[in-house]
Amino acid sequence: MSQPLLSVRDLKVHFPIRGGLLGKPSGWVKAVDGVDIDIGRGESVALVGESGCGKSTLGAAILGMQKPTSGTIMFEGREISRDTAATRRALSRELQIVFQDPVSALNPKLTIGESIAEPLAIHGVGTAGERRDRVAELLGLVGLHAQHAARKPTAFSGGQRQRIVIARALALNPKLLILDEPVSALDVSIRSQILNLLLDLQKRFGLSYLFISHDLSVVRHFADRVAVMYLGHIVESGATGDVFANPVHPYTEALLSAVPLPDPVAQRSRRRIVLKGDLPSPANPPKGCKFVTRCPLAEAVCHETHPPLVGVGDGWQAACHVRAPAPLAIPG
Ligand SMILES: Nc1ncnc2c1ncn2[C@@H]1O[C@H](COP(=O)(O)OP(=O)(O)O)[C@@H](O)[C@H]1O
Ligand SMILES: [Mg+2]
Repeated sequence: MSQPLLSVRDLKVHFPIRGGLLGKPSGWVKAVDGVDIDIGRGESVALVGESGCGKSTLGAAILGMQKPTSGTIMFEGREISRDTAATRRALSRELQIVFQDPVSALNPKLTIGESIAEPLAIHGVGTAGERRDRVAELLGLVGLHAQHAARKPTAFSGGQRQRIVIARALALNPKLLILDEPVSALDVSIRSQILNLLLDLQKRFGLSYLFISHDLSVVRHFADRVAVMYLGHIVESGATGDVFANPVHPYTEALLSAVPLPDPVAQRSRRRIVLKGDLPSPANPPKGCKFVTRCPLAEAVCHETHPPLVGVGDGWQAACHVRAPAPLAIPG
């Protein structure tokens, strides 16, 4: 791959736990604990994992809404994780986010036209008339009508509100959209409409997506690549087709076992892997492999050392002592 649009290296976001002596933290919530992730131009990467594994924190750090503890975030080859507020503001033209809940994302006092025009006004783009034209164009792009601009958000359904939020995110022609569970709050019946809209927009404008989801079933047809996160770490990443057909990490395998297969015959013979116990607290992660407390394959080494991500195929990596043992170092 040529230089990726976004390149994250060894990123950590640790939150202090208050309540220690003399105002010192009594511990740290290691929400993101050493993540590497790349997103190419026009590529869509899904970030999946159970609730609480650190997905939103990673997204917030990329957007500059959350200060990283350490590590680097490069956008178009430039380090952005230590940007000043002013440079970050300029960067917000390139990087936008769509959240799960379209209701709280829209100011109920503004018309939707005003909401969509807000980023244009903040960045001083165009005259009032040009902004009105752009709002009409954006409404058309997301499948709504220009006349809708004068209405308040309450006039719209959940799915329509998410279209409005997407229109606003596109207003400044960003290169990368972080989509944090963009369809999770919507009725199942309209999820695919919004996913198709996002796919259309991606093709049309060559957008890159980081698509965050706890639900793997929506990812298969959506993302070029998938990165599976567990307790602050990426445990597997690769082309969506490869990972779905042959998951290497036992956590990926367990997540996928819950996803219905399109082929009913294959579905009947599928074995559902139910993980024991809950996600451990990121304030007190297990020693060794973070998945060790729930892993059906765990061996002695897994309790001792954290497995590195190891190449298991073309552009495909997994972190598992059992399934992806690190090659032995060649002496001398
Ligand atoms: N501002 C914060 N302060 C303290 N802990 C936080 C904060 N934000 C998130 N966390 C914790 O970090 C972990 C990861 O959260 P999050 O990134 O929201 O996970 P996900 O999006 O995968 O559900 C959770 O244990 C969560 O409670
Ligand atoms: Mg989240």
